[in-house]
Amino acid sequence: MSNSSNKGVAVITGASSGIGAVYADRLAKRGYDLILVARNEERLKSLSARLTSGTGRSVKVLRTDLNNKAELAKLEATLRNDPSITMLVNNAGVASVAPLLNADVEKMDEMIALNITALTRLTYAAAPAFVVRGTGTIINIGSVVGISPEALNGVYGATKAYVLALSHSLQHELADKGIRIQAVLPGATATDLWEIAGFPWQKLPPSIVMSVEDMVDAALVGLDRGELVTIPGLHDGDEWTRFEAARRAISERFGNSVPAPRYGIGVPAQQHAASPPYRLKGVITSRLSPNGLWRYAQFCPYTKRLPMRKALLGRKQLA
Ligand SMILES: NC(=O)c1ccc[n+]([C@@H]2O[C@H](COP(=O)([O-])OP(=O)(O)OC[C@H]3O[C@@H](n4cnc5c(N)ncnc54)[C@H](OP(=O)(O)O)[C@@H]3O)[C@@H](O)[C@H]2O)c1
Repeated sequence: MSNSSNKGVAVITGASSGIGAVYADRLAKRGYDLILVARNEERLKSLSARLTSGTGRSVKVLRTDLNNKAELAKLEATLRNDPSITMLVNNAGVASVAPLLNADVEKMDEMIALNITALTRLTYAAAPAFVVRGTGTIINIGSVVGISPEALNGVYGATKAYVLALSHSLQHELADKGIRIQAVLPGATATDLWEIAGFPWQKLPPSIVMSVEDMVDAALVGLDRGELVTIPGLHDGDEWTRFEAARRAISERFGNSVPAPRYGIGVPAQQHAASPPYRLKGVITSRLSPNGLWRYAQFCPYTKRLPMRKALLGRKQLA
């Protein structure tokens, strides 16, 4: 299939296999020229040859080890300086299934370097350039384990939680600058990632493993629909809407100068600064029967005023 429209150049990291290779295929068919990034040059070249002959697009290969600072810096420079680049797919990543006690910390460090540091540096190169150009799309490949880090190796889950958090933040900062940021959260997908991590996907229950083609196609539909976060495997999309609404709602309620009453301590920081040192004393305000617990209000004996709010209530065992 050839596509004569020109949507600019998409840079895809981790394009030599799995999810990245399917993004390359689909984006070429959608009219993007491509820069394919990974370490395995042979695989990249063979994909490039297939896509060039199949779609007529320009498909360049940039053999890059994203864990090598100098090689990463070259790609950053390309993103900053090539005005034809309109999309970055931050896809390269490695996983682990090792529990913390069995995991080699050096491997964890390498995973953090690829899944977090490289992704961050490439975003820092692309996003400002896209802002100057007034257009651009960044697709960050996270994972559902970013929300459920108990599922696999905890460091892997944490790297993907980072990807989601960074994507939320970028969406917040860049929404009015014409830049699209999409976080894609695949569940188990049939790629080499699993075997490399020491647990082939064929050993998983077939009912939870998605084909890589379906995963990417669904993610691109999500992109077309303007989704900020796309979770191809989550069937009830309203569940995410509610989860996200709850996250945003609770975010409004974190900022308080005193700890929650359930901890029974604390005064506002301003009052701390203004008053000499004091100890909180309590007065009994009500009795909570039948378990013998009493409630009491705490107040500052120097200012004689109840700290913040109407009363800071604690619970005191009087028996
Ligand atoms: N498969 C899943 O179940 C699943 C689920 C959720 C999220 N994901 C995420 O999807 C993304 C793609 O993974 P995949 O499943 O498609 O696995 P994959 O087939 O193993 O692909 C990983 C890609 O990353 C590249 N890569 C690895 N280390 C690199 C390095 N140091 N420098 C440059 N490129 C490097 C690999 O190419 P080279 O080896 O040639 O460098 C390969 O192209 C990852 O971020 C992964 O965390 C996957």
